[in-house]
Amino acid sequence: MDSSSLLTVLNELYSQYKSLQEGTVANYIPELAKVNPELFSICIVTVDGQIYKVGDYEHFFTIQSISKVFAYGLALEDHGRDYILTRVGVEPTGDAFNAIILDEQSKRPYNPMVNAGAIATTSLIKGSDPTERLNRMLEMFKRYIGRDMLVDISIFTSERSTGHRNRAMAHLMLNFGMIDRNIEEALDLYFQQCAVMVNCQDLAVMAATLANRGMNPITKVQAVDKPHIKDILSVMYTCGMYNFAGEWAYKIGIPAKSGICGGIIAVVPNKMGIGVFSPPLDARGNSVRGVKVCEELSQRLGLHLFDCLGQEAKFGIGD
Ligand code: DON
Repeated sequence: MDSSSLLTVLNELYSQYKSLQEGTVANYIPELAKVNPELFSICIVTVDGQIYKVGDYEHFFTIQSISKVFAYGLALEDHGRDYILTRVGVEPTGDAFNAIILDEQSKRPYNPMVNAGAIATTSLIKGSDPTERLNRMLEMFKRYIGRDMLVDISIFTSERSTGHRNRAMAHLMLNFGMIDRNIEEALDLYFQQCAVMVNCQDLAVMAATLANRGMNPITKVQAVDKPHIKDILSVMYTCGMYNFAGEWAYKIGIPAKSGICGGIIAVVPNKMGIGVFSPPLDARGNSVRGVKVCEELSQRLGLHLFDCLGQEAKFGIGD
């Protein structure tokens, strides 16, 4: 597909879904409820570094759960896959992202994409003190995005002072020896990573970096070691959309991750990264417009990983 046709597709999807008024913005973190629900943007970055964007793609918001993907990559780099598997599983839960559950037998959280698993993952990030761990986290995001990263302090403190459910999960995991470190420090780092500020173009660049075997296609910086890409994309595929993950895999068919900010990233390996931002969420915590846009992009561009007919009949971007 040529560049002008891809931009045309994005403009069509933007106009088509701009008027969709379903869903509600997340309000359980009080500061998040202040977002303008009308904001909407779609961005695609190809593995050869082309950028296609429409809507409010420069608007900054907090990355929230989308950060879990990248923190998992850092933990894999810090400890290796075998050790991480002893602390965090890779099974979808079929439950809500904030369910207070651990695997009965192993006492591990089910996977790194739900809150319990993400808190456990973040507690494993190496560093001699909280500042060093935060700086390592921010450096990691910088490799994916290509500029210095900032944390939204209001959102961070708002979540820190109201995040009792996450605190409960951390206590449960401390009880079972799944978190070793001071849990308040682990929670702070988790709340800080969720409050990292990004825009829709950043989401697409991050997704494109994963699509491009871990190398940022714009800056050419290797953001994460190549061997971890398949582990990261596998858990995104099976667990990234929470209790919608099965339907997402069936209908849309590409690894993805959502956040309660209203962002979604989707990765088409070796081709492109997609970022969508629209704050109103459905009952499972996924952006309503984001899901619709990705569904349509998958169909129109033949992106479903197992859609051999679509790929034959259409085209492969970047081929
Ligand atoms: O832990 C939380 O509740 C938030 N900081 C992140 C949750 C989130 O984004 C879930 N996504 N759908």
